Amino acid sequence: MREPSSVGTESNTVASSSPPPRALLERLKDYGQEDVLALWDEISHEERDFLVKEIESLDLSRIDRIIRCSLRSQALPAAAIEPVPESNVSKVEERSQEQREKWWKMGLKAISDGKLAVLLLSGGQGTRLGSSDPKGCFNIGLPSGKSLFQLQAEKILCVQRLAAQATNESSASSVQIHWYIMTSPFTDEATRKFFESHKFFGLEAEQVTFFQQGTIPCVSKDGRIILETPYRVAKAPDGNGGVYSALKSTKLLEDMASKGIKYIDCYGVDNALVRVADPSFLGYFIDKGVAAAAKVVRKAYPQEKVGVFVQRGKGGPLTVVEYSELDSSLASAVNQATGRLRFCWSNVCLHMFTLDFLNQVANGLEKDSIYHLAEKKIPSIHGYTMGLKLEQFIFDAFPYAPTTALFEVLREEEFAPVKNAIGSNYDTPDTAKMLVFRLHTRWVVAAGGFLTHSVPLYATGVEVSPLCSYAGENLEPICRGRTFHAPCEITF
Ligand code: UD1
Repeated sequence: MREPSSVGTESNTVASSSPPPRALLERLKDYGQEDVLALWDEISHEERDFLVKEIESLDLSRIDRIIRCSLRSQALPAAAIEPVPESNVSKVEERSQEQREKWWKMGLKAISDGKLAVLLLSGGQGTRLGSSDPKGCFNIGLPSGKSLFQLQAEKILCVQRLAAQATNESSASSVQIHWYIMTSPFTDEATRKFFESHKFFGLEAEQVTFFQQGTIPCVSKDGRIILETPYRVAKAPDGNGGVYSALKSTKLLEDMASKGIKYIDCYGVDNALVRVADPSFLGYFIDKGVAAAAKVVRKAYPQEKVGVFVQRGKGGPLTVVEYSELDSSLASAVNQATGRLRFCWSNVCLHMFTLDFLNQVANGLEKDSIYHLAEKKIPSIHGYTMGLKLEQFIFDAFPYAPTTALFEVLREEEFAPVKNAIGSNYDTPDTAKMLVFRLHTRWVVAAGGFLTHSVPLYATGVEVSPLCSYAGENLEPICRGRTFHAPCEITF
């Protein structure tokens, strides 16, 4: 919807005293939301038209149901949770070399058969990072200056090449992994432009599909819709769990089926070490024959801002309790037998689903889904108001999966979160850059390379281009006997 052009101009005079359309007012009253017209008498004709269209575009009955259910469920005591049984997690130390090779090959085969798509969740507003650009455009300061989007695109290119080589396809371009990218009205235009201006980072433009998630009004603590301006409702993306309804409304599940896609690797944008389209994880997933799986790392410390996988009640379904909703005494509870945290399996926001399960969720979840409430500063007619954002979480689908599995990965290999602005104490672009340096430096040394550095090694390192190596493989021909001066990027 276009903004009224008269705002701030002389033509923005207050309209005559005609009242708001009666039917609209009555509808709003039915849901206790008539306050959104509180400033009606103070706005221009054009602004009134804008506000009327804005309200008409809202499904008030659905929004009312969501607000009431969410406020009610918040008042209920949290359901009892139990740790995930150790036997339900595939642990790194338990995997044999043979198993690893088997899963890697199975994954590459499925990829070369076109059965895998990757789905990026990129509709978040990234307010904690302090940048108004989509998070994926962020350059964390690696020597290459690559953005998070570029690092991920190049990993996809690398896996395509590995899959083509493993299955003796004549050329790397014969294997194509489709990349679905979920944006929101806040990130959509800038994301598309970024991809276009970078020529899709070497991918084919037609293998990338952008789609937008929905938004939902922000509300006060008593459930009233907040106005951002006198004629515009304050809205926010409906959480990364909005992916299910967005996939349905954009008919992309049909699109996936028509392409022969069977498995969807779904991940968050803000991890500099994310292994997009990981053949090992895919092979494990296929081998297990489950409907939904997630990568997990061991939680580093009780207050770490990560969701933890739990069982809802003894023997109950697998689910995640988000860090914002986990009681601090449970977060720091220790398992006396192991000495480890009781709830230790952290969500890194990397999930694998079958297309069948995504269809099931997209077609059935809405009616009994919960929206989580996050208390946030909302831009409003008063400057800012403390209010509530309503969000669905992607992992809320896990309890509905007939079969699930958790796959442990090492945080030093796969988890470098980029959440907070430079200068914060943790999960910043700088901490993520150092995690990349540390891992890639280890790869280079293991492949027979040497490093020189003029600053201490704890503050620098080398970066390996994802175009050369996905997980440290195939580096010997490039590195053996060579000396690299850190910081630098190693590429072909
Ligand atoms: C997320 C996980 C948390 C996990 C942590 C690991 C969720 C709900 N929480 O937390 O359990 O331990 O990552 O780093 O998954 N996004 C959208 N649309 C939205 C909101 C978010 O696409 O409306 C995307 C973001 O762009 C990002 C991802 O979802 O790619 C994670 O979102 P964010 O809100 O940053 O999650 P965290 O709080 O860090």
